[in-house]
Amino acid sequence: MQYAWLTDIHLNFIDDVARQKFYQEIVNTGCDGVLISGDIAEAPCLVDILNEMMRYIDKPIYFVLGNHDYYRGQIQEVHDAMTALTKEHDKLFWLSASGIQKLDNNTFLIGQDGWADGRLGDYQNSRVVLNDSRMIADLFQEKILGKYQLLEKMQQLADADAIKLQKDLKQAVSQALKKIIVLTHVPPFKEACLHEGKISGDDWLPYFSSKVIGDVLITAAQQNPQIEFLVLCGHTHSEANVCYDNLVIEVGKADYCRPEIQKIILV
Ligand SMILES: [Fe+2]
Repeated sequence: MQYAWLTDIHLNFIDDVARQKFYQEIVNTGCDGVLISGDIAEAPCLVDILNEMMRYIDKPIYFVLGNHDYYRGQIQEVHDAMTALTKEHDKLFWLSASGIQKLDNNTFLIGQDGWADGRLGDYQNSRVVLNDSRMIADLFQEKILGKYQLLEKMQQLADADAIKLQKDLKQAVSQALKKIIVLTHVPPFKEACLHEGKISGDDWLPYFSSKVIGDVLITAAQQNPQIEFLVLCGHTHSEANVCYDNLVIEVGKADYCRPEIQKIILV
């Protein structure tokens, strides 16, 4: 089986013709399904774009959401919309809610959106202000209250997803398969958060990485050395490939307005 991996495709930035051309490229790979590690579009058009993808591609699409998918929206509203949408399509899976998916006899697929948790780098002294705290209603409200209220909210979101990922991992490893593929938007280790080939600076790392997801992944990998873990993510738009024994993290390269197929994942 072959799966086309996409990340940070930001389809709201391109017109209908360019989107259809991109869908056709995906179909032309002959893949059996699509994996998307977040930043598909923005909240107001996310449902329409996912419906459009399903119509053109007509293969199973497994996805998690990125921070941009919540832009111009409110987190619970987006969650509700995804829950309703995936009920309408039997081949569309929002992994954050659908739980573990068996791709074949040896491979499980799981995923959680994931959020940057401010725990790597230097949040206190960072002068970075990400658009997230302007464009996502829930984060905007906290940012108005202060930098530490924002951090608390980021960690609350990141930790909730990490707990769900831990639960899914536990269920997947209990079935003793050979391989687990994990989709999550935010890279889990600083070594995977690159900018121009180097690890991102301490001012950006708090917003580019999820330490809590990294902790969950490394624990699962160390406790299950017989299983191969492949983690596919995005967010930084900078390619990275990091390997810790049986745990491989791949981060996709992305440019706004030029959606790409990252690679074909063979299962
Ligand atoms: Fe992105």
